[in-house]
Amino acid sequence: MAESSVLSGRKFAKEVRRNLAEDIVKIGGRPPGLAVVIVGDDPASRVYVSMKEKACGKVGISSTVIRLDESVSQEELLLQIDILNQDTSVDGILCQLPLPDQVSADIVASAILPEKDVDGFHPVNVGRLWRGEDGLFPCTPVGIMALMKHHNIKIDGADAVIVGRSNIVGKPMAALLLRESATVCVAHSHTSDLQGLCRKADILVAAVGRPRFITTEFVKPGATVIDVGISRTDDGLVGDVDFENVAPISGAITPVPGGVGPLTIAFLLSNTVAAWKRNN
Ligand code: GUN
Repeated sequence: MAESSVLSGRKFAKEVRRNLAEDIVKIGGRPPGLAVVIVGDDPASRVYVSMKEKACGKVGISSTVIRLDESVSQEELLLQIDILNQDTSVDGILCQLPLPDQVSADIVASAILPEKDVDGFHPVNVGRLWRGEDGLFPCTPVGIMALMKHHNIKIDGADAVIVGRSNIVGKPMAALLLRESATVCVAHSHTSDLQGLCRKADILVAAVGRPRFITTEFVKPGATVIDVGISRTDDGLVGDVDFENVAPISGAITPVPGGVGPLTIAFLLSNTVAAWKRNN
């Protein structure tokens, strides 16, 4: 059997960012603009938002962070989004999740103009994704598809199993794989014989949020294993996959950290630049 390869998201993200920076300079004019709305002071959200800001600056995207109090009403938040929708210097808008209980993430997602919805959460973009049309699609699955293509992993005709059915990762991942002619199965906590199902997968995407849940028993030798999970444990940051034991039997595998994580931000930038190009 061929030796497994470790798919470095960190390296690929760097290349993506370099290409975006070159594109922005080449096209010129008003720089792309991203507005990030953050509500409250969830520590993880603060870290993510500051990483997004820093990444924008590096490639030449102008970013604005709108910080709203934990107690903000839905009406006030929608008002803020409306201002950003109308601002012609803003190409992309994202509202960092999670949001406090008094605010509906679904209503917020639907309030962002589909053309500025760089998270790809608006129902119009979800429809476009499943219909095979152009649009803005969720950054993590888009990044995973690009990483697999970059490494010439065969998607057409592959049996793909996704463990996890979230709107941010599992479902859009299924749609993107289906668009590229994989045979797709979405597994979740009620799936019977999860192990047996995963063992049939040529492409296995783990997005369950349970550290080292995917052990060798779940993996077909030679499969491509994509680890979306990231959990802080006593051993440091750990993915959903038991990397140490699964890597030797896989055909290709993403590490944690340095695998899928860096792709999410790189493809947020990519969505912002795509929105800017359409507006320009
Ligand atoms: N919180 C965790 N992941 C995400 C994401 O992809 N987008 C937004 N807006 N918030 C998040």
